[in-house]
Amino acid sequence: MAEQTESSKAEYHGDGQYNADIVAKHYNQLQESGREARTESRIFYMRNFNNWIKSVLIGETLQTLKKERGHRGIAVLDLCSGKGGDLLKWKKGDIARLVCTDIAGTSVEQSEVRYKEMLNRERHKDQVFTAEFITADCTKVRLREMYKDPNMKLDLCSCQFSFHYCFESLPQAQMMLQNAVENLQLGGYFIGSTPHAQELVHRLRESPDMSFGNEVYRVTFDLPDKENIPLFGAKYNFHLEGVVDCPEFLVFFPVLIKLAEEYGMKLRFKKTFADYFNEQIENQEHRVLLSRMQALEPYPPEKDTEPMGLKDTDYKSADEFLQEAQQRESSDDRYRSRPQKIGTLSKAEWEAITLYCVFAFQKVKDMKTGETWSGSEVLSVEGQEDVSSVDSKRKRPLDKASTSDVTEEDVSSEGVDSKRKRPLNEATPSDVIEEKVAKSS
Ligand SMILES: C[S@@+](CC[C@H](N)C(=O)[O-])C[C@H]1O[C@@H](n2cnc3c(N)ncnc32)[C@H](O)[C@@H]1O
Repeated sequence: MAEQTESSKAEYHGDGQYNADIVAKHYNQLQESGREARTESRIFYMRNFNNWIKSVLIGETLQTLKKERGHRGIAVLDLCSGKGGDLLKWKKGDIARLVCTDIAGTSVEQSEVRYKEMLNRERHKDQVFTAEFITADCTKVRLREMYKDPNMKLDLCSCQFSFHYCFESLPQAQMMLQNAVENLQLGGYFIGSTPHAQELVHRLRESPDMSFGNEVYRVTFDLPDKENIPLFGAKYNFHLEGVVDCPEFLVFFPVLIKLAEEYGMKLRFKKTFADYFNEQIENQEHRVLLSRMQALEPYPPEKDTEPMGLKDTDYKSADEFLQEAQQRESSDDRYRSRPQKIGTLSKAEWEAITLYCVFAFQKVKDMKTGETWSGSEVLSVEGQEDVSSVDSKRKRPLDKASTSDVTEEDVSSEGVDSKRKRPLNEATPSDVIEEKVAKSS
């Protein structure tokens, strides 16, 4: 396993060692909970739902890559790979090569052990992808210099639930982005999931103080005022029941899009988890996976089982939905004896889930040679944001600018999910989930 070297440390330009240490310590100490403990967790279904989102995003991107360039060995960088939670997804995706990297050394060691165990279970070991594991602060050191082969060509970089750590400063965001994309082939993808800055700011502005949340999550901003939010270093503490309790930073997408352009990357899509779910659940395979991964809570719960959330507040919309369905179906003999059961999520979990978005960038230009990608544009361009605002409206350099310089409109208008009338945090699972799942059953 490669360790962070003195020479690579010298690449560090920022001043946020304090936050990096907190984050690394937090994730290193986080115990890998057994299956039983996970099942009992208040956010059991939310964790499974998030895992489903990752599975679908990774699976769809690998399929796109294979369609665009055939089935030759795919090489992947799992940026901020944690304890290797996505190893099985890479195996299922039949990739050829994987690089896992994370700031938390203990997590990297655990992921390497997990990989070796996975390999040992295989009869045909040579059919499983090869892997290397690197401990590094990906916002401060250049990963390329730590690869076994610095010229290795990658097809995909996946950064799940982690990109937000780099928006502490402009140099850190640039280094993370460079790490994500510099070894990508033309046509290669950079995908990820991250908190949705516009939604976070929307909820912050609705709150009477600098904090908002519910029984499963809490976000507390460390900012002097709600209106003039800096583009980098907009720090908040994110607490998620038993899983996360760390400083994070808002990722303003118009800024990210602009930075990514400098590396030849073009945004293919950015979607809220709610919109992405809505879109992907139309696919039968994804519906089957949703059920296999236990990503929704059966409701009403089985006999002698309590619901995960609070009966009175968390399942109002599920109850309304069941009542309406019952009324609709009471006139139809076919449904009379059928017990009414749906898949849902407690309101508290849904409020936490709807803080996130998924994104995909594609390398469309090699900045060294000027060569451009001429492949088919298979992924949708929905969610493309107007990046002209970053340049035209900005009066100050990026690292000194604030949301009022560039993203006032984005920040205030994007708190509403495109397909719904209610703001995301007021919407309930019934707006999205029950309808879809009922349709599929
Ligand atoms: C929420 S976990 C996600 C882990 C994994 N991607 C997954 O989806 O299971 C966030 C990860 O980001 C890592 N991380 C945070 N800051 C980092 C940095 N500066 N460089 C590398 N990894 C970092 C943490 O150590 C942690 O493993």
